Amino acid sequence: MSEISSKWNERYANSGHPLPAVADVLLKGEHWLPGTASERPSMAALDLACGRAANGEWLAQRGFHVSAWDISKNAIADIQQRPASRVAVAQVRDLEKQPPLPHSFDVIIVCRFLDRTLCQAICEALKPGGILFYQTFTHGLSNPDFLLRSNELLSLFASLSILEYHEPEPDESGKAEARLIARRQD
Ligand SMILES: C[S@@+](CC[C@H](N)C(=O)[O-])C[C@H]1O[C@@H](n2cnc3c(N)ncnc32)[C@H](O)[C@@H]1O
Repeated sequence: MSEISSKWNERYANSGHPLPAVADVLLKGEHWLPGTASERPSMAALDLACGRAANGEWLAQRGFHVSAWDISKNAIADIQQRPASRVAVAQVRDLEKQPPLPHSFDVIIVCRFLDRTLCQAICEALKPGGILFYQTFTHGLSNPDFLLRSNELLSLFASLSILEYHEPEPDESGKAEARLIARRQD
């Protein structure tokens, strides 16, 4: 087992806690979700590096066929064992070794996860017209590798059409998260 998966397995060892809050990028950007109620069950959404998949559940409640992927087997077991889960496919997956395939998703949500080497694959994994919702930290983490620089999401996803971008100032705890919503055109 890799060091990363061990670390996250420990973090997710205790299931039964309430799910974390749904990401602001989804709550505030809900109007950008594609599809009508009757279209969404055949539209694929991915909660990438999902953790306990609060965001995936929220998308499933809005009608999408949701896949939730994470390197932590404990996080995925938590989803699979949750009686009320509406996530269709919960899968243990190391995204560095198995990134998403091209043209496979209508919606992708990435929250509080940053691997710059995956950004190209994330763009390509969107179907034409597909929407990316991305939210992660600009301030407030001890490891600078996982912090975005100012406007960095805009350059990482420059091949997409940007629909919304917000980069708030740090809150009283010193944390801040940038939010990007973008569409694949072709
Ligand atoms: C800070 S948590 C965020 C979880 C979730 N997106 C959320 O917002 O609640 C980061 C997640 O990334 C996952 N992760 C880290 N490296 C990964 C990798 N190489 N492949 C898949 N998942 C990974 C961890 O297991 C963890 O669940």
